[in-house]
Amino acid sequence: MSRAGIGMIAALGLSTSIASAQESVEVLHWWTSGGEAKALQVLKKDLEDQGVSWNDMPVAGGGGEQAMTVLRARVTSGNAPTAVQMLGFDIKDWAGEGVLANLDELAAEEGWEDVVPEALKGFSKYDGHWIAAPVNVHSTNWVWANKAIFDELGLKQPTNWDELIAALDKIKEAGYTAVAHGGQAWQDATIFDAVVMATGGPDFYQASMIDTDPDALGSDTMKTVFDRMAQLRTYVDDNFSGRDWNLATAMVINKEAGVQFMGDWAKGEFLNAGKVPDTDFLCFRFPGTQDAVTFNSDQFVMFQVGEDRRDAQLKLASAVMSPSFQSAFNVVKGSVPARTDVPNDDFDACGKKGMAELAAANDKGTLFGSMAHGHSVPAGVKNAMYDVITAHFNGEYDSATAVEELVNAVESAQ
Ligand code: GAL
Repeated sequence: MSRAGIGMIAALGLSTSIASAQESVEVLHWWTSGGEAKALQVLKKDLEDQGVSWNDMPVAGGGGEQAMTVLRARVTSGNAPTAVQMLGFDIKDWAGEGVLANLDELAAEEGWEDVVPEALKGFSKYDGHWIAAPVNVHSTNWVWANKAIFDELGLKQPTNWDELIAALDKIKEAGYTAVAHGGQAWQDATIFDAVVMATGGPDFYQASMIDTDPDALGSDTMKTVFDRMAQLRTYVDDNFSGRDWNLATAMVINKEAGVQFMGDWAKGEFLNAGKVPDTDFLCFRFPGTQDAVTFNSDQFVMFQVGEDRRDAQLKLASAVMSPSFQSAFNVVKGSVPARTDVPNDDFDACGKKGMAELAAANDKGTLFGSMAHGHSVPAGVKNAMYDVITAHFNGEYDSATAVEELVNAVESAQ
């Protein structure tokens, strides 16, 4: 071969190695609403500033069910993404399959152990090893209300069931949709979590949603929970079936509906629409759950990847855990930081309230994993509960039948 030829090959080799030096991460997630996408942009930019390109793999569908189906297919075909947004017990399931990466070295270097709350570590670590980086803590027992409607009708924030019903009646009588809701199983279950807590209190939530005690699941209190779900059903509009959660939030934003019962990712939609807490909208705890918090935490779970992708993966994990990212991201997302050492200075009124109430619930022992969002029971049991809750919400079962079905469905899913 001529000298020129060798030179050319060398040059080509060089350019190939320059091309492969461009690091990238492929991230599977379900953050596709306006507010969610805006929050994720903070992370994309952080990585791009470090020279790591972002290969986006969005799978729409709040709560992440569709995303988990896509993930299964990817891993089965031997092509796992770098990182995956995941919730609670799903993380444990994947860890059990032995396909996740080990983040111990990075965690030790950056002192994660001291700043991540115990409730989250239960999911970020498996068999004592770090396998995920927690992005946030969301809480799910919130009410999002249109302030103009509340002012117009002289409504105060309800603090118990009767006050809630009285407020919903007034909103309905005034010609608005009282409850903005999307009829999807995870959304029905999000309301169910709150009604369980409001009706039976923290001990009942623990017994039924976490310990799955058949006595609690089959109790008169559970019958009241289903009765209350049926009552709430009378306040949704005719087109609720299948509606995405962010479209329900938009109904409150646009003064078509009075309230939405939803996790604090709803706040991201209000902010994205230029709305201000306490001026345009109100955030308060689901009536009767003022002293308790049901939470879920989005974590970026790292899959085992080849050596060539490892460095970018660690950069992603480190970016997620940085205090400045945890503040900047969660301010936009509606959640609160997954580290205990992040100041609340940049958070708005709802965010400050969320941070304070989370800390208080943690101290009081009234912080519980959300069933609807995969933090109280494994997916099989959760899905069994979803089926019964949704069938009842859609009028297929009366409350007494729903109680029986719940006991049976949970028993056979375990
Ligand atoms: C939750 C997730 C939130 C939010 C919501 C709706 O499961 O934790 O971050 O994205 O779904 O998509």
